[in-house]
Amino acid sequence: MSDAIDEYFDAALELVKSAGNLITEFTTGCKEYKLKSSDIDLVTEIDKKVEDTLISGLSTRFPSHKFIGEESVADGAKCVLTDDPTWIIDPIDGTLNFIHGYPSSCISLGLTINKEAVAGIIYNPIVNQLFTAKQGQGAFLNGQPIHVSQVKDMRNAIISFEAGTSRDKDKQHAVLENFKLIVIKGQGVRTVGSAALNMAMVALGGADAYFEFGIHAWDIAAGDIIVREAGGVCIDPAGGAFDILSRRVLCASSMELAQEMSTVLHQYYPERD
Ligand code: IPD
Ligand code: CA
Ligand code: CA
Ligand code: CA
Repeated sequence: MSDAIDEYFDAALELVKSAGNLITEFTTGCKEYKLKSSDIDLVTEIDKKVEDTLISGLSTRFPSHKFIGEESVADGAKCVLTDDPTWIIDPIDGTLNFIHGYPSSCISLGLTINKEAVAGIIYNPIVNQLFTAKQGQGAFLNGQPIHVSQVKDMRNAIISFEAGTSRDKDKQHAVLENFKLIVIKGQGVRTVGSAALNMAMVALGGADAYFEFGIHAWDIAAGDIIVREAGGVCIDPAGGAFDILSRRVLCASSMELAQEMSTVLHQYYPERD
């Protein structure tokens, strides 16, 4: 199995690097976009081009593989994850940043087999940061091994989270309550506008935890394996097992920190995919 994963990963990495060139043409921003589910949920032609490039390259090479791509899943459609090798694609994670020219956007590509993430690539081509992981082989930034921090409690933790792309009132209430909570109980709050890059920062040890309600499988599939291979944990924000389709995630440098957060976070349950 590991030889097969290596082969899939190598092919994917080549495609991701070349698709990164589509993004770096717009380092100062991309002024043309359309609205999706809300006035803060935006998409550009480049999102679609990157996704098409990855799907067409991978499906030519691996015709039996399946795909869940953000821009190919119809709005509101249910994501189905099978045991087959499945590429979960966020062509640009941080589209709002990409549109504004804020340099925190990335391609996030995860591979699941038997419904578990076994390889992940998070590539921010604007600042040339490439985070990678394969099951059992560790996590890397630009080829150098990375590891989560030693932090085990909120008091000493930099915690990142996001307000997301919905204007749902209950969701906004949860975000504001959690912002207060982290200001009071944590050491620092961060929000970079990309779920995948938040997870990459936890894997790197620069941040100690990240959580979000309302994310999708494509936001977190690559981050899940990269965080775990860097020694961290991914759980449900209320403390149970992590479910990639639940639209909820909490990742942290340690189970102690994740569990402390899960007992105090204001919970929000988006509709399941
Ligand atoms: C979004 C970003 C954002 C997060 C949202 C995601 P997109 O992804 O990751 O940080 O708060 O929940 O939808 O739309 O830029 O791919
Ligand atoms: Ca989006
Ligand atoms: Ca995303
Ligand atoms: Ca996206």
